[in-house]
Amino acid sequence: MEHRITNKRLLFLSAIAILSLFMMQGCYYDNEEEMYPSVPCDTANVTYSNTIAPIMADRCNTCHSQASPSGQVVTENYNGLKVVATDGRLQGSVNHLSGYSAMPQGGAKLSACNLKKIDIWIRKGSQDN
Ligand code: HEC
Repeated sequence: MEHRITNKRLLFLSAIAILSLFMMQGCYYDNEEEMYPSVPCDTANVTYSNTIAPIMADRCNTCHSQASPSGQVVTENYNGLKVVATDGRLQGSVNHLSGYSAMPQGGAKLSACNLKKIDIWIRKGSQDN
C-alpha cells in the first residue's frame, strides 16, 4: 500500500514536470498565431501589393533585391517574384520542402498565416494585383 501511493505520487510529479516542459516550449514559438491561437488569419482579399509585397519587404528583400539578388532570385518586385512563384521555388523554399533551400536563409520560418497567404496567392495564379 505504502509503495503504491509513492508510485502514484511519482507518476503525478512526472506528469507535472512533462507538462511544464511543454508549456515552457511555448515560449520558443516566435510566430504570433502559434503563441496566440485565437489571433485570426485573414486570408480574404490576398493581393500582391497589399499582402505579398509587404511579407517580402519584411523578410526577403534584404537578400533578394533587384540590385543584388542572392541566387539570382529577386523578391523585391513582381516580375522577379513571379518567376519563382511559377517554377515552384517560392513554395518549396518558404515551406522548407525537400529539394529546395529553406528560406528565409538563417531566419525563422514565415508564420503559418503568411505561408497560407502565399499559397493562396500562388494558387490564384500569382497575379500582379
Ligand atoms: C540572409 C539572406 C537571405 C534571406 C533573408 C532570404 N534569402 Fe532566399 N536565398 C538566399 C541565398 C544566398 C540563396 C541562394 C543559395 C541557396 O539557394 O541557398 C537564396 C535562394 C532562394 C531561392 C531559390 C531556392 C532554391 O531552392 O532554388 C528562393 C526561391 C528564395 N531564396 C526565396 C526567398 C524568400 C521568399 C525569402 C523570404 C521569405 C528569402 N529567400 C529570404 C539568401 C536569403
